Amino acid sequence: MEGMITLSVIKADVGGFVGHSAMHSDLLEEAKGRLGGARSSGMIVDFHVTACGDDLELIMTHHRGVDNNEIHQLAWDVFVACTEAATRLKLYGAGQDLLADAFSGNVKGMGPGVAEMEFVERKSEPIIIFMADKTSAGAWNLPLYKMFADPFNTAGLIIAPSLHAGFRFEVHDVKREKRIFFDAPEELYDLLVFIGAAGRYIIKAVYAKDGEIGSVSSTQRLALIAGKYVGKDDPVCAVRCQGKFPAVGEVLEPFTMPHIVEGWMRGSHYGPLLPVPVSQATPSRFDGPPRVIAVGFQLADGRLVGPRDMFDDPGFDEARRSANALADVMRRHGPFEPHRLPMDEMEYTTLPQVMEKLQDRWEKLPE
Ligand code: F6R
Ligand code: MG
Ligand code: MG
Repeated sequence: MEGMITLSVIKADVGGFVGHSAMHSDLLEEAKGRLGGARSSGMIVDFHVTACGDDLELIMTHHRGVDNNEIHQLAWDVFVACTEAATRLKLYGAGQDLLADAFSGNVKGMGPGVAEMEFVERKSEPIIIFMADKTSAGAWNLPLYKMFADPFNTAGLIIAPSLHAGFRFEVHDVKREKRIFFDAPEELYDLLVFIGAAGRYIIKAVYAKDGEIGSVSSTQRLALIAGKYVGKDDPVCAVRCQGKFPAVGEVLEPFTMPHIVEGWMRGSHYGPLLPVPVSQATPSRFDGPPRVIAVGFQLADGRLVGPRDMFDDPGFDEARRSANALADVMRRHGPFEPHRLPMDEMEYTTLPQVMEKLQDRWEKLPE
């Protein structure tokens, strides 16, 4: 639409280096080359390619709106080309998130994670893109709640006339494929009934009360698409900041509390979400701990001026320390809940295959 810009963040794990820990530079170069071509041809306005752990993150701006076939095709082609590069290097899990053999119009439901929003670029448009590894869609519920609804986090909800009316949350039930909208602060308690169960009820978007979009996140759950464990959803979330939206510092503040998320080791354990600079987005300990990066840009007519590595700040050192302390406590539980996911969540892991073998050995209790 005229005067609108679209921000598309599309990501996939198409091969890890080493194991599931990080991204090989050949894949980053391949992706940059291809998106560079798309920028030269005018298909996209600008792009930034980065990685969080084993996830390749394509950040693009363009004028084609959300759910656009050509943009999704472009992302798919990048992932396929990077899968080929990963296959040549025998990287780990090459092409693991590409659940379909061929592209069919929209990457949604085909494996990659997608967060897109279309808006009129303001006079100044600061944006932060959060990307996480070793966790799953739903990991943003608590931070988004704090950013847009908690006055203990976001001072602007009280102080700033532009934020005082609150925000509207779009929540998806990813199991039933339904959605619901809640107004905050009016319906805070209703909102919390659902988003506290972050494995199922996921905040898809947040809007100002005038309808303008402030945040969007990926809600793909690979296990629900494939019906079995095929890797993790490792979600992304984009947030517009300042003015009528929370300030940059209010948007980052929730990550000073390393909240517990699911997705550590084999997608089967809970662990604290560790905020790290991009250079440390390389989970190693017990394939983790789960981590998040925050990359900031100023948009200038769609141009992504940046990035700024927002967690590369000693202000997050204490969060990192307490995340590591928490990680130690969780790890000492070994295979016990609540480090390990509860049984109904383990349904989507490889554990049922092990349990099946033991099925016939269960005997009736003596009378
Ligand atoms: C992958 C992940 C890892 C793997 C684990 C086993 O994102 O979280 O913890 O689940 O390394 O991987 P496979 O089964 O591929 O050997
Ligand atoms: Mg992987
Ligand atoms: Mg990953």
